[in-house]
Amino acid sequence: MNPVKVGLCGLGTVGAGTLKVLARNAAEISARSGCDIQITHIGQRRENPDIDTGTITISRDIFDVAADPEIDILVELIGGTTVAKELVLTAIANGKHIVTANKALIAEHGNEIFAAANAKGVNVAFEAAVAGGIPIIKAIREGLSANKIEWLAGIINGTGNFILTEMRDKGRDFADVLAQAQALGYAEADPTFDVEGIDAAHKLVILASLAFGIPLQFDKAFTEGISKITTEDMGYAEELGYRIKHLGVARKTEQGVEMRVHPTLIPKKRLIANVNGVMNAVLVKGDAVGPTLYYGAGAGSEPTASSVIADIVDVARTLTADPEHKVPYLSYQQGELSNAPVLPI
Ligand code: HSE
Repeated sequence: MNPVKVGLCGLGTVGAGTLKVLARNAAEISARSGCDIQITHIGQRRENPDIDTGTITISRDIFDVAADPEIDILVELIGGTTVAKELVLTAIANGKHIVTANKALIAEHGNEIFAAANAKGVNVAFEAAVAGGIPIIKAIREGLSANKIEWLAGIINGTGNFILTEMRDKGRDFADVLAQAQALGYAEADPTFDVEGIDAAHKLVILASLAFGIPLQFDKAFTEGISKITTEDMGYAEELGYRIKHLGVARKTEQGVEMRVHPTLIPKKRLIANVNGVMNAVLVKGDAVGPTLYYGAGAGSEPTASSVIADIVDVARTLTADPEHKVPYLSYQQGELSNAPVLPI
């Protein structure tokens, strides 16, 4: 079986989950991919004695992984946009394919990163950047490729939905639930991103770019979070037959594409009003298929690792395919599908 060598940078919640699931499901993963996927180099800035890395080479300098001539794919799980951007661009320049879970990086610097990757002929895959374990990127890019997408809307921040659910069901205090979400590994390193809607806006911008074929434009997303919502607000909403949910909405209008994230009142009987805890759900309306709904864990170690590994498998398949039958894996559309303007905030 063809070996595919992978360098993994970042051994936090998602990195640890990736190692664990790759080891536990090695037989299924090799049967499905037709490849022997091996993590051969880990970049880990701080030691984590809780994670068994076996005999894998460990570097404290993550740039050693990007420079490793042996590896085919670099998995970026360090987060942030400064060092992560430099790491990814360095790895691309060295001819590595990229798998990343970093929505901030893709939403804010994706246009530059994809241009560099296209010029070098390497893939940048980012399924884990949006909605954790839900394969929403593949659904839009592949499953709905026959459609003109009219709109999409969803709960795309697991931490925020967990907080709103616990406040509503148990009357718990906002700060207390947020601390629990951090302990469970759901929240961002800076949890302001979760509670002020920034993380959801990053994800929405990525989805809108894929759905409508427009460049990534993070500065054009209206962004409001959940930090001002109280248990009293939730009680009033319930009395009136509604639930408060934090939604991301992207819509194509005659004037252009609208992108917004904010708390929304949703009638209790709607499916999306009953998406609770860390779960995410995304509705996508295509002109041919009609409305479709995708549901699953939006954050957490193994659900997010599931998406990271799916991307590793996709890229590995293209690397090991028979050259005569090689199908390029396009992690991103090449060229724009539309020149629709994005509406100002
Ligand atoms: N902090 C993010 C969330 C992690 O809670 O949704 C997954 O992207």
